[in-house]
Amino acid sequence: MVQNKDLKRNYSIGIFDSGIGGLTVANAIFKRFPNEKIIYFGDTAHLPYGDKSADSIRFYSLKICKFLLEQNCKMIVIACNSASSAAYDTLLEFFEGNALFVNVVDPLVHSVSYKGFSKVGVIATKATIRSDIYRRKLKTIDPDLEVVQLATPLFAPMIEEGFHNNQLSTEIIKNYLSHEMLNGIDALLLACTHYPLIKDSIDQFFEGKIEIFDSTDVVADVVEEKLNKSSLNSEKLQGTHEFYVSEFTESFAETTKVFCNKELELIEKAIWT
Ligand code: DGL
Repeated sequence: MVQNKDLKRNYSIGIFDSGIGGLTVANAIFKRFPNEKIIYFGDTAHLPYGDKSADSIRFYSLKICKFLLEQNCKMIVIACNSASSAAYDTLLEFFEGNALFVNVVDPLVHSVSYKGFSKVGVIATKATIRSDIYRRKLKTIDPDLEVVQLATPLFAPMIEEGFHNNQLSTEIIKNYLSHEMLNGIDALLLACTHYPLIKDSIDQFFEGKIEIFDSTDVVADVVEEKLNKSSLNSEKLQGTHEFYVSEFTESFAETTKVFCNKELELIEKAIWT
């Protein structure tokens, strides 16, 4: 087995998500680390993970990680909350020592901890909410904190279809976030990689009265910390970034514009055989 000490600075950073939404995290990483080559894998054949069982998400995540490790990745970023909550421990069990691992849950939990909030809301896919991971982790750090969690499954497909910052998305946001469960929150965690795209609309809904956290920059912070600690920062960009999807459609290619402001070249890669 490869040990972390055998990893090389010029290896890539592998990032994966159920689809295209993880590009919000990838974007934060591109911006912060211009010398790092990124290999992105979007499991568009199995999207949405938010509606899948934890076992299925673990199975897909293991295959994707194996593929990314075969491409010489020194770090794997699980840029999907549903996969981070269902599969992070399993991925460590199988692959720890083969790469550095970063999930999107822990950085978000830490960003909100010790800030003196009394009631925090979490919105995410059904899979993430069902896992109860945010409540468990937040309560472990601060047992007095009230944590409420709401599944908002329409948000991800709505954003993928290009509905954000318009009348329809405003109505859907209002419909979900008016839930009485969220009354009195002083902070909200956007625990899904798509949601940074509707952060401004959510802020408008709450009239700027609460703090809103997402997992873009905080994940880049952890990437930086881990690369520094292991002295694995690349000194020069090696080649060009690669973007793989398990199923290609024109609509996925189009959607990359929503997340990256430009259309990316997607390569279809079958890894399930
Ligand atoms: N990327 C997923 C997440 O962050 C949202 C989309 C899906 O359900 O696959 O949970």
